[in-house]
Amino acid sequence: MNRLNVELPGLKMKNPVMPASGCFGFGQEYAEFYDLSVLGAVAVKAATPETRRGNDTPRVAETESGMLNAIGLQNPGIDHILAHELPWLEKYDVPLLANIAGKTKEDYVLVAERISDATNVHALELNISCPNVKEEGLQFGSDPQMAAELTRAVKAVSSLPVYVKLSPNVTDIAGVAAAVEEAGADGLSMINTLMGMKIDIRTGNPILANKTGGLSGPAVKPVAIRMIYEVSQRVSIPIIGMGGIYSAEDIIEFFMAGASAVAVGTANFSDPFACPDLIKDLDRLLEEMEVSHISELTGRSWNKWEPNLSSSR
Ligand SMILES: Cc1cc2nc3c(=O)[nH]c(=O)nc-3n(C[C@H](O)[C@H](O)[C@H](O)COP(=O)(O)O)c2cc1C
Repeated sequence: MNRLNVELPGLKMKNPVMPASGCFGFGQEYAEFYDLSVLGAVAVKAATPETRRGNDTPRVAETESGMLNAIGLQNPGIDHILAHELPWLEKYDVPLLANIAGKTKEDYVLVAERISDATNVHALELNISCPNVKEEGLQFGSDPQMAAELTRAVKAVSSLPVYVKLSPNVTDIAGVAAAVEEAGADGLSMINTLMGMKIDIRTGNPILANKTGGLSGPAVKPVAIRMIYEVSQRVSIPIIGMGGIYSAEDIIEFFMAGASAVAVGTANFSDPFACPDLIKDLDRLLEEMEVSHISELTGRSWNKWEPNLSSSR
């Protein structure tokens, strides 16, 4: 029995699990371990108009509760991606979510227009939330008006469904979500990394050359769950949930908070089999929980909690 297949705009998925953008490259390294066709989808690394070498090193650091990165959107640029990376992925029976970044609205529009022609790209994911590149993305991610304008501009040049990847580094994430939905977004991805920092106490210097970086992994999961719980009750478009997923139980929690599919990021770095193992574990867990289909769980925790202020002190 298939408890796992889900259908989101543009993405017909065998199961609700995809690797998150930037944590899987274009899949080559992982294809040495397993057949990528077992995945629900693949969110590929961010594409920009030009080749980017990324930030100076060190650009990754471990913390007690997760990982800091300031890669800086390193990628070979849209021409190379179209000529080499996407055609390589064509042999796999898996839908692709193409992640797009840029400095200006025109950058996003250019990449969106060009990448939409690739036959194996099924949907676009606008990264308006990268905290590791100065003056970039974040402005779009923190300003509902700008986020909406960007969404409209991309929708105008592509017939593919557009997912907007929201930044958690804002006060009112639901406000940005509502604005991009109104502008025509077909779905949301959330969350990206949370701005963080680590200092070397022997030198007093920040560990990352960029000083700050994005925190991902177990530490961010409760933040992601809260944000998805809040946003999913404000919008009617589906949410791809991510942030610290390491187990099948985590995936169920994301669905109950309001997600309709999930992406796995940092876990891929410590265990290359993270995604296929999670898919198997999830199937077993749903059977054990007597859930006939994963989609029944979306939003199960909505409105269940009423704060009882009188008994909370
Ligand atoms: C090394 C690294 C690179 C990333 N690169 C991108 C990227 O290119 N585009 C993007 O939208 N998100 C990027 N992300 C964010 C992830 O896709 C994901 O939203 C985030 O890491 C939270 O999930 P996790 O805790 O499972 O890693 C990156 C994250 C990491 C750790």
